[in-house]
Amino acid sequence: MNDLLCLGIETSCDETAAAVLGRDGRLLGSVVASQIDLHEAFGGVVPEVAARRHLERIGPVVREALAQGGIRSEDIGLVAVTRGPGLAGALMVGLSWAKAFAFARGLPLVGVNHVVAHAHAAYLHTAPRYPDLALVASGGHTDLFLLEGPREVRVLGRSRDDAAGEAFDKVARSLGLGYPGGPAIERLAQQGDPGRAPLPRVGLFRDSLDFSFSGLKTAAQTLRRQGLVPQDIAAAFQAAVFDQLWERSALALRQTGCRRLIFAGGVSANGYLRERLGDALRRQGLALLVPPMGHSTDNAAMIARLGLTMYEAGERSPWDMGAEPVIHPFKP
Ligand code: KG4
Ligand code: ZN
Repeated sequence: MNDLLCLGIETSCDETAAAVLGRDGRLLGSVVASQIDLHEAFGGVVPEVAARRHLERIGPVVREALAQGGIRSEDIGLVAVTRGPGLAGALMVGLSWAKAFAFARGLPLVGVNHVVAHAHAAYLHTAPRYPDLALVASGGHTDLFLLEGPREVRVLGRSRDDAAGEAFDKVARSLGLGYPGGPAIERLAQQGDPGRAPLPRVGLFRDSLDFSFSGLKTAAQTLRRQGLVPQDIAAAFQAAVFDQLWERSALALRQTGCRRLIFAGGVSANGYLRERLGDALRRQGLALLVPPMGHSTDNAAMIARLGLTMYEAGERSPWDMGAEPVIHPFKP
């Protein structure tokens, strides 16, 4: 095999994932083992439980990813792994595993930032091109940043309180829906009328592209206590999230002069948000770039994508690289 093959490993939260990506951009294998069933009863991810499950799953998940592409472990030429942000214990499992695999085979290792990797999921079906504006909305982050290169990231705005996905999850919980809340709200919203549930719009903070979702979350929860129909609340909540994402993104596009927007992270799996963002951008002659189907939420293909790109830019991580549960400001 002549192509350089990168093994990507992701264990930052409640998904154990491995993927194999070729330097030519071919995704040869990608496996995501979700722990949702394990955490559902608790209404959220329990860190210690997550770490223990990663430990059990990481070996089988890597083997399955290799088997998908008919690849032997000797064919791997590079290992990329999430070093943060995420849950400390969960990150450490993937990091230790990746280090051991790479060290034993004398392979280079590249540690990557999970949030920057989410944006690079959009480069799984088109070659990376910098600079690009990225909006990453997930369970832990809602960030707008300019990708100036694989290692050069300029943060333009972020949520000052809840992440968008977190707000989806919490509103879903108060509507009696399961975890994760995003897909459940999206389904329910299809039967609702946003006009029947008045929700506030958060104005831009002065001189800032920051987001805020906690007020919106509380307002939605209050409407529920007042007896409004869950379907209408779900529809209105989604519409209000869209308004805020678009308002900030539109301003960032104007400020940076970028001609396209990457929309990634778990929340970008939402069909309604994708469609409305796509329409809004198209009306301005701009383009929307989203991850391929199934690669908005946590996966290891995005880790391999960013790892390979950083490797080509000269990145080599040291063996004593540690997990970084909180990486702010951005360190790709
Ligand atoms: O990126 P991700 O898998 O993990 C983090 O890095 O946080 O994102 C998970 C988040 C959860 O909050 C989940 O509710 C949300 O993404 N999500 C969605 C949808 N699918 C997942 N939010 C809105 N609509 C969806 N269809
Ligand atoms: Zn994520």
